[in-house]
Amino acid sequence: MTVQQPKTQQGNGAKAALRAGMALAVFLAILLTIYWLQPDNFLLYVKAFHVIAVIAWMAGMLYLPRLFIYHSEAEAGSQQSETFKIMERRLLKIIMNPAMMITWTLGLYLAWQSFQFQGGWLHSKIALVVLLTVVHVIFSRAVRSFAADGPRRSARYWRLMNEAPTLLMIMIVILVIVKPF
Ligand code: HEM
Repeated sequence: MTVQQPKTQQGNGAKAALRAGMALAVFLAILLTIYWLQPDNFLLYVKAFHVIAVIAWMAGMLYLPRLFIYHSEAEAGSQQSETFKIMERRLLKIIMNPAMMITWTLGLYLAWQSFQFQGGWLHSKIALVVLLTVVHVIFSRAVRSFAADGPRRSARYWRLMNEAPTLLMIMIVILVIVKPF
């Protein structure tokens, strides 16, 4: 069942999508300029932007479930609950979604250019990033459900979910830095 959203919320959603699109376009323009200038160390620039996108994505993945914990304790329809809705939507649409797309695109480019998709560490890393992406999808569904004042999970559930991105991030970073196999 789809829940009809108020006009102002739809307007804010369109604005958030526009800002996310602009962020992606600016980012792409920077990368194309660097490619056009053809520095010898283009791959290092790609890696730097990959890590920058990872930081932005992870900041959201660590903060959003914390917002859910507070939100699930706020009464539906209260001023506090409405404020959380705005914070959650902006964090997801403006920061997390574009950052995830950039992380994936540049990560796959590095995997192809530098490693021809070879290596146990790389395959394991990609598998863990797929899991991280599943968690991202669970979070974005929760943002929609909170926005519609739909059924809610408990604060305890979100406290547990809060740990998932942290654990995955630790394993992913160890895999890519140590490359143990
Ligand atoms: C499917 C998505 C991803 C792919 C295919 C991917 C692939 C790669 C590749 C091939 C490198 C270069 C490694 C090297 O030159 O030694 C790299 C660097 C890196 N990645 Fe990813 N990555 C992805 C997502 C992520 C995520 C989600 C994180 C963190 C949570 C992450 C963290 C890093 C870090 C910290 C580096 C820099 C490592 C270094 O140069 O020492 N990546 N990634």
